[in-house]
Amino acid sequence: MKGLILAGGSGTRLYPITRAVNKQLLPIFNKPLIYYPLTTLMLGGIQDFLIVTSPADRAPFENLLGDGKSWGIRISYAEQARPGGLPEAFKIGADYIAGSPCTLILGDNVFFGDNLSGIMQSAFDANTGMTVFGYRVNDPQNFGVVEMDKAGKVLSLEEKPANPKSSTAVTGLYVCDGRVVEIARNLKPSTRGELEIVDVMKSYLADGLLKVRPFGRGIAWLDTGSPQGLLQASHFVETIESRQGVMVACPEEIAFRRGYIDKAQLLRLGQTLAKTAYGRYLQQIAEEA
Ligand code: G1P
Repeated sequence: MKGLILAGGSGTRLYPITRAVNKQLLPIFNKPLIYYPLTTLMLGGIQDFLIVTSPADRAPFENLLGDGKSWGIRISYAEQARPGGLPEAFKIGADYIAGSPCTLILGDNVFFGDNLSGIMQSAFDANTGMTVFGYRVNDPQNFGVVEMDKAGKVLSLEEKPANPKSSTAVTGLYVCDGRVVEIARNLKPSTRGELEIVDVMKSYLADGLLKVRPFGRGIAWLDTGSPQGLLQASHFVETIESRQGVMVACPEEIAFRRGYIDKAQLLRLGQTLAKTAYGRYLQQIAEEA
């Protein structure tokens, strides 16, 4: 399974914060926002990533994440000339995907919850077309919305409907088989001039190959689309980390626990950040192991 992280977009809803800084580089408490979607996919076992950014934002992401080698993963980069909709990520990543199954995650989507790792892995293993995740929200009009009958059969899919037919939003996590590139290539722009991810879903639905899995109440899917949302997400992460003494979305820890890097490597990574609680945490988990 390959991972695509779409870190494009101009972040206009967060201006002036995002005038000069890509939204996905902003902090959620003690680490950049992009660490959260990256680790969500790492928890599912993905080690191969393509990060899609605007041409101007590529360098900062490369400075932050590099080629992934020190975390035992592989990260490559591709550019999206201008925001043209989520499915463009599949077209831009066509050579990288090369017919393999892939999962697209939006760079601003934060997930947290028990057994996220198991949920991701089983979604990857069971996928036969496209799998997406439904989550109950208070403001479905701001998202892709899926309406289902009692048996879980999809009745409708709409992007940001003024009058939502359900409270179930589709999260920014899309598990796809290798056909997704061809489907994305055949899409026509919507009235707002962009390719729409709901149209990709509708295409799989028409072939009977769309699965919607529920994320239950035990999973947090946090909003990072507004200043309030960013602050609340930071508070959320700080609360969990302070209470438990374990980190949320720490790529070095996941790499270590999954055996991608060894104790000596983790200690070295900790040393480079030794002035921070983050670095001391890495050293602590290395020593406890
Ligand atoms: C996008 C998708 C929407 C989805 C959301 C999840 O919207 O178009 O269907 O529900 O991501 O974060 P955006 O937030 O980019 O406007």
